[in-house]
Amino acid sequence: PGKLPITDLAAMKASGSPIAMITAYDAPSGRLADAAGADVILVGDSAAMTVLGHDSTVPATMEEMLVLTRAVTRGARRPLVVADMPFGSFQVSDELAVTNAIRFVKDAGADAVKLEGAGTMLSRVHAIVGAGVPVMGHVGLTPQSATALGGFKAQGRTAEKARQLVEDALALEAAGCFSLVLEAVPSPVAARVTELLGIPTIGIGAGAGTDGQVLVWHDLLGLYEGHAPRFVKQYAALARDITRAVSAYVADVRERRFPEDVHTYAMPQEELALFEK
Ligand code: KIV
Ligand code: NA
Repeated sequence: PGKLPITDLAAMKASGSPIAMITAYDAPSGRLADAAGADVILVGDSAAMTVLGHDSTVPATMEEMLVLTRAVTRGARRPLVVADMPFGSFQVSDELAVTNAIRFVKDAGADAVKLEGAGTMLSRVHAIVGAGVPVMGHVGLTPQSATALGGFKAQGRTAEKARQLVEDALALEAAGCFSLVLEAVPSPVAARVTELLGIPTIGIGAGAGTDGQVLVWHDLLGLYEGHAPRFVKQYAALARDITRAVSAYVADVRERRFPEDVHTYAMPQEELALFEK
């Protein structure tokens, strides 16, 4: 099957078919997300944490995100691939934002970009969309500004903050976003935004009332041990499975149980005889 047309997402909202989005960071995860039927793949700047070992998304660079996006677009065919614009790649000016958005499309094969925030960022959205690159918005908990928000915590939990969030969402739609991520916001607020917007909303920690859901690859698969946010559902425990498998390999090497004959190349008898002479 060919690429999912971006306009199908609005049609999915209209017909009430939920949109399934997941992050991916390399060719195999892109290929597997495609095989599993995901509609949208986000090359999230969460890669800074899940793949690169940082403790926030702030250090992610354009160069890193381009490498990861190229790998994902080599692996994924049908899903829309959205590249997450890293911190510093769009805040400075509309011009820089457009330049970097175009790099994701032209140099890395992305179908769209995502950027965090409203307010000053509305102008960035308008400029990037004007240049012909579809933009996904992101409001609520915006990890690139977690420090300013006072940490990784749910947003829009007072009537006033919730109203501001609704205003931001409407403004992002007006600025030209084709879709909007709502992260860590109370479910009634996300449901209200979803009802008011013509574009599809994609929730993460935003309840069941959004038009789609997104989860981080490593969270969904249980690819690391330790604390997971409330909104994560783990569908596998791959960190445990990987540790078991690698431990079994290490033990086999130490005990000389691996390799066995089946893993080993032979040589014609006469050649062996000549060689050993
Ligand atoms: O970087 C990321 O993975 C994200 C999603 C959580 C929406 O922005
Ligand atoms: Na992100």
